[in-house]
Amino acid sequence: MRITRTIQEVRAAVDGAAEVGLVPTMGALHEGHAALFAAARSECDVVVASIFVNPAQFSPAEDFSTYPRDEQKDVRFAEGAGVDVVFAPTVEEIYPERFQTWVEVEGLGQGLEGGARPGHFRGVATVCLKLCNIVGPRRAYFGQKDAQQAAVVKQVVGDLNLDVEIRVVPTVRDADGLAFSSRNAYLSGAERAAALALPRALLAGADAHRRGEDAVVAAQAILASEPSLAADYLEVARLNGALYLLGAARVGRTRLIDNVILEGALQ
Ligand code: PAJ
Repeated sequence: MRITRTIQEVRAAVDGAAEVGLVPTMGALHEGHAALFAAARSECDVVVASIFVNPAQFSPAEDFSTYPRDEQKDVRFAEGAGVDVVFAPTVEEIYPERFQTWVEVEGLGQGLEGGARPGHFRGVATVCLKLCNIVGPRRAYFGQKDAQQAAVVKQVVGDLNLDVEIRVVPTVRDADGLAFSSRNAYLSGAERAAALALPRALLAGADAHRRGEDAVVAAQAILASEPSLAADYLEVARLNGALYLLGAARVGRTRLIDNVILEGALQ
């Protein structure tokens, strides 16, 4: 596996490859990322994982400086998961001093996470477009856990005519039901127990929807029963042609998001 740090190095590493698969990540790699690497491995000749904690998608009040970073561990994890090339650039490599061009997705980028985190999707859309332009993948892989993000990236690809196929991989959960997330590392044992109310609530919402009842009301009842968890939003929304129940909640200082599909299929 090669580790590259500059645009020139990563381009040289993929030069001549027929089909490149790109998996953009912010590191602190876990089983969710591994599922994306495996999907890319099964469909592409060369798998590139970017590891870049993108400052542009964090607001000043968020956890950019404390976001978990352990490059050595990530490199070992990526190698074990079948990654061929890691692209781990510096902030200056991606955003040089006079950088001033941004991608703004109107509408889709506004509600849910976009509402809770103003400017977040501007940072995500911009870095994903840049990573695609840098690496030149045939396919790029995203997780269902961040369903709105996947939809935003698809929108960018369509609107800006990028020649890349976006693949969305189902959410990978730990044995207790919590979706794997780099931010789970922040949770104490008690906080993790409280955090489980989020996936439980979403499942209860999906059950209610199947019975013809209100998914949000059912999910809300579960969230409200966990005093250490503060719901941020719980909403039904159509993304990428499927109907989702999406939730965000805070446990202590950690913000977690998750979702389930109510109708339709992942695409
Ligand atoms: P990060 O949180 O590191 O996630 C990288 C990719 O892994 C995203 O597409 C995310 O949806 C996916 N992922 C995370 N947890 C998952 C899980 N439990 N199951 C399946 N997939 C999962 O999302 C980002 O980074 C950034 O916003 C990024 C796209 C890299 C842009 O900076």
